[in-house]
Amino acid sequence: MCGIVGYVGVQEAAPILVDGLRRLEYRGYDSAGLAVHNGQSVEVVRRSGKLRELEKALQETPLTGAMGIGHTRWATHGKPSEVNAHPHTAGPVTVVHNGIIENHLVLRQELLDQGVELQSETDTELVAHLVEQQLSQGLDLVGAVRAALARVRGAYALAVVSSADPTRIVAAKHSSPMVLGFGQGEMFLGSDIPALLPYTREMTFLEDGDVVVLEATRATLTDLEGGPVERPRQHIDWSPVMAEKAGYKHFMLKEIFEQPRALEDTLRGRLDREAGDIVTAEVGLSDEQARGFSRVTLLACGTSHHAAMVGRYAIEELAGLAAQVELASEYRARSAVVTENELVVVVSQSGETLDTLEATKLAKSKGATVLAIVNVIGSAIPRHSDGAFYTHAGPEIGVASTKCFSTQLANLLMFGIWLGRRRGGLSAARTRELVEGLAHIPSLMTDLLTSMKTSMGEMARRYGGAQDVLFLGRGVQFPIALEGALKLKEISYIHAEGYASGEMKHGPIALIDEQVPVFVLVPRDGNYERSLSNLQEAKARGARVIAVASEGDDAVAGVSDSVVAVPPTDPLLLPLLTVLPLQLFSYYVADFKGTDVDQPRNLAKTVTVE
Ligand code: F6R
Repeated sequence: MCGIVGYVGVQEAAPILVDGLRRLEYRGYDSAGLAVHNGQSVEVVRRSGKLRELEKALQETPLTGAMGIGHTRWATHGKPSEVNAHPHTAGPVTVVHNGIIENHLVLRQELLDQGVELQSETDTELVAHLVEQQLSQGLDLVGAVRAALARVRGAYALAVVSSADPTRIVAAKHSSPMVLGFGQGEMFLGSDIPALLPYTREMTFLEDGDVVVLEATRATLTDLEGGPVERPRQHIDWSPVMAEKAGYKHFMLKEIFEQPRALEDTLRGRLDREAGDIVTAEVGLSDEQARGFSRVTLLACGTSHHAAMVGRYAIEELAGLAAQVELASEYRARSAVVTENELVVVVSQSGETLDTLEATKLAKSKGATVLAIVNVIGSAIPRHSDGAFYTHAGPEIGVASTKCFSTQLANLLMFGIWLGRRRGGLSAARTRELVEGLAHIPSLMTDLLTSMKTSMGEMARRYGGAQDVLFLGRGVQFPIALEGALKLKEISYIHAEGYASGEMKHGPIALIDEQVPVFVLVPRDGNYERSLSNLQEAKARGARVIAVASEGDDAVAGVSDSVVAVPPTDPLLLPLLTVLPLQLFSYYVADFKGTDVDQPRNLAKTVTVE
């Protein structure tokens, strides 16, 4: 998730572009750059690091001209560095891009075979070269962009300028957002509304497949074949702060509702639905290595540890491989034994958590092969690992992790499927079922989130006054119970415990009375009957039971005080759905209590202390 901006008009472009990027920094902040046409040629300034580094560079090397494009980056291909920062240039063509090009490996190889010299590790530079090749065949800029895009699969919001034309920006969109802004004799372009708000409130949202030629006085919209397209103009009356949160009250709520999009980005290019398999070329593990592992140890902290627990169930079930999960801090606190041919999978949103980083180094020093499942590209943990399988959730700003958790689940499930297929434990038919199941998760998430928009607020009002809340789950739902309890604790400051349903009668059941709401995760899976018995045991002791169950489950509805219904999917994929009501419940309880939802007390987004 990066941010792009564009300006063509009568004013100096650079200050407007920098201002737009500042308002889009929430979309990414590991490097930034501008390209401005000075009347003769396009000049580019890029810097690694936050936007202020670019601003400093622009003081030394000012860019002048009334047309330009800009970018703030959140790395997806290639580590954060100046050479990987946008804009990317090929001959007269300069490009900024937000999105992920799925077939980048194939395109890169083709260009290398043609003798093209690539400067960066990014997928975006490939687009610049494709456009340049088409220009040199005699096409105009918009024709060249269309022809280049015919070769590209994946998600993009692109803005392209040519040194031969100081009056036009060509932009195109597929899957990544793009907004046009209409001024008086000037036009604006941005990934999102906040970038444009100080300049205009008249905006047009582009749709997938749209290509636009932006000039100072007009925007000409076509489709990818060049046919005319019309999109409505809208008046936006949001305040700048509302706009940054896309109209949501808190980043956490925005990030909860962003999960279908985050999942799509994470799954993009990794599900081969035709072959019914998972693509993990980027991870760098061979099929032979996959067959040779003797055991898997998953290491993580907090929410990432809960995701790792789900990963353990997936790896054991799908790959028939012994798997164990460790808290990174505890792994360091004992004399952990690394067996021969052990794979250590490290899970971390930030890639910088100190305990997880030190545990990574320890496992590596003891001879393990280390794979990092991390959201922040180029962070410390992947740098100390043998390979990385990145989640593509985009920057997560709310301290309580939501969208990063679900994308971690997706990567762990994909990795489990990949391992299972390579090790022979997983049939082609079941692999295909799981691949299809994963492909449908984003739309199931959207439906479920939409259906809970008002009901979870009501539920939070009904149960949110409790002093203690219990969350119960069994099998793959046990880590989700732990995650539900952690979310509630950290943002609403209510005491909450997650328990394996089967453990209740060994002690914690004594806590239950009429005051204690008990969430029971009881979707139809292999543990359904036993989980239902546990639900009834809680009910029989006076608990107020909130069931998270499969749609149409009258047996559960008959014995519960409240029910959240989740749509059917493969039981292993259900955690991706059952976690959603728990995230929303915590959010609404915290919001009613008036806590600082995005920055809860005593917590930090990245924990770099022991
Ligand atoms: C809770 C939360 C934390 C993190 C933990 C590990 O919502 O976000 O528990 O999961 O601090 O952080 P990462 O994943 O960055 O290693």
